[in-house]
Amino acid sequence: MPIGMNNPEFLVIGRGGQLSRAFADILGNQAEFLGQPEIDLAQPKKLLPILEAFSPKAVINAAAYTAVDKAEEEGELATIINGESVGIMAKFCAQKNIPFVHYSTDYVFSGVGHKPWRESDTTLPLNAYGRSKLVGEKLIAATGGKWLIFRTSWVYDHSGKNFLTTMLRLGKSLEKISVVGDQFGAPTYATHLAKYSLLALEEALKRAKFPSGIYHMANSGVTNWCDFAREIFAQLKQKNIPLKVKEVVAIKSSEYKTAAPRPHNSRFEMVKLKKDFEIIMPQWEVALAECMEKI
Ligand SMILES: NC(=O)c1ccc[n+]([C@@H]2O[C@H](COP(=O)([O-])OP(=O)(O)OC[C@H]3O[C@@H](n4cnc5c(N)ncnc54)[C@H](OP(=O)(O)O)[C@@H]3O)[C@@H](O)[C@H]2O)c1
Repeated sequence: MPIGMNNPEFLVIGRGGQLSRAFADILGNQAEFLGQPEIDLAQPKKLLPILEAFSPKAVINAAAYTAVDKAEEEGELATIINGESVGIMAKFCAQKNIPFVHYSTDYVFSGVGHKPWRESDTTLPLNAYGRSKLVGEKLIAATGGKWLIFRTSWVYDHSGKNFLTTMLRLGKSLEKISVVGDQFGAPTYATHLAKYSLLALEEALKRAKFPSGIYHMANSGVTNWCDFAREIFAQLKQKNIPLKVKEVVAIKSSEYKTAAPRPHNSRFEMVKLKKDFEIIMPQWEVALAECMEKI
């Protein structure tokens, strides 16, 4: 359908990503999905005419530069996609007086300590990707419009390029798998992220004053990557999926070098989500089981 021929309720930016696909499953034809090549967030100057062709009730940005390690070399591109272009989309929404829904990351924090991060805690990104996402957050907040930023962590679904599908592949080919055990946080099922952020948006739209702000949204509970892997294999075994893996060994981050440093502490406090929207996110193991139904 040519751009501008319809007025969807939601305009979702992103089509092939984990979160965009989750929105496609939930929203169906209530939303128009704009992906590459029709929209390229690496070309901020071209965005406005594309957006102007739509009159949605809200814009949801599910697209981002997410190549965390590559961002160390492509910091400028990451900042254009996750920063400058996000600012332009948010400003467009503010001018139209419609909400802009966006996703950020645990990587905006330093990752030190053990305490769950609150929305108001000081940000101090450890890597280029985190810095680019923080630029986006700040530009959105500066618009003064109606906006919701959901900071999330460890996003996966049943088919994307993610930790779950990587473990599924490795578990079928290796007897012993070493996984980092000293980074703590919560895996987040993309379907839950889409579903609960839509619920929050629906609630926010009912308010006399739109509660613009940052909200932490991940599945509940805390784990580390190694225990996440063990739970994945336990659940796969319950489903009688044949696996070769017999042992999952915890290693330290220092034993698994990556171009971009990773935070040790990605725990989120989610009190604000409950207080403002009455949302309590499902436990991560329950979310994993729900996702496994699709495997
Ligand atoms: N994945 C995680 O673990 C994680 C953790 C914390 C926060 N987040 C945040 O959660 C949100 C959703 O992430 P996700 O896991 O769904 O990411 P994803 O699966 O990597 O998908 C990223 C999406 O962004 C699109 N995109 C990338 N560059 C683009 C460009 N130049 N122009 C237009 N679209 C572009 C991709 O389009 P194509 O399909 O065309 O490539 C894809 O649809 C993002 O804001 C991300 O920063 C993710």
